[in-house]
Amino acid sequence: MTTTDPSLAVVTGAAGGIGASLAVELRGRGYRTFLADVDAEALARVAARTGGTAVVTDVADPDAVEALAARAGAASLVCLNAGVLGADLGAPWEVGPEDWKRVFDVNVGGVVNGLRAFVPRLLAADRPAHILVTASLAGLTVFPGGGAYGPSKHAVVAVVAHAAMALAGTPVTISMVCPALVASGMSTDGVAPASVAAEALDAVDAGTFAVFPPEWRAAVIGQVEEIASGRVPTPPVPG
Ligand SMILES: NC(=O)c1ccc[n+]([C@@H]2O[C@H](COP(=O)([O-])OP(=O)(O)OC[C@H]3O[C@@H](n4cnc5c(N)ncnc54)[C@H](O)[C@@H]3O)[C@@H](O)[C@H]2O)c1
Repeated sequence: MTTTDPSLAVVTGAAGGIGASLAVELRGRGYRTFLADVDAEALARVAARTGGTAVVTDVADPDAVEALAARAGAASLVCLNAGVLGADLGAPWEVGPEDWKRVFDVNVGGVVNGLRAFVPRLLAADRPAHILVTASLAGLTVFPGGGAYGPSKHAVVAVVAHAAMALAGTPVTISMVCPALVASGMSTDGVAPASVAAEALDAVDAGTFAVFPPEWRAAVIGQVEEIASGRVPTPPVPG
């Protein structure tokens, strides 16, 4: 791979929710897309609707993500969006080992596998390229409940922040979108995934590192202040 294609994008978790909305929004912005997901049937529907190329991929599998990058490594925009909520949503000790493993394998592994597969190709191309990661508000503050999900998203935020530091001075940039509740396969409540996708891509264009619901900013800072002051954190409440 010697160059990147400025109108080619990849989206993981593209079969529904935010990922499908990214596929729609990217098409509207003139991109051709490679769309990846484990749900082959739903992925085929989104690909047919948006003109994208479906590549059935389990993002938890490094070899599968490497194969995706081998086909789509010329993409200049890589959206690492796939994620799972997990089945056990209780306190840490109430979550079974299989759930801890699967949630971390998909949510953290999916991002790490994506970075490992795509970043060396993008750096070798030495052209402007961007990686957009779907993290979560749950990666910036701690909510009661949620099982392994919040801890996995904290790891995602740390990976993205570290990657941003490591990529400084290169033509490759990375950012993240940290939504609160989004109405999708993962939640019946929340904002429309289309608005999250549009806002995330606008932020990529604007060079914004993190898209974050402003009504949660004081609560996120307040919880960090509690911990930094040596106190037990209290559940965050939007302002
Ligand atoms: N829905 C919310 O409230 C919310 C809030 C903040 C962040 N997020 C994050 O947004 C991202 C997208 O989720 P969504 O809300 O659109 O939910 P969703 O369930 O509608 O979409 C997730 C997609 O990821 C796919 N997927 C799951 N495991 C996969 C794997 N191993 N490999 C490839 N694809 C896989 C699913 O098949 C599905 O199409 C996730 O990372 C999620 O954590 C969601």
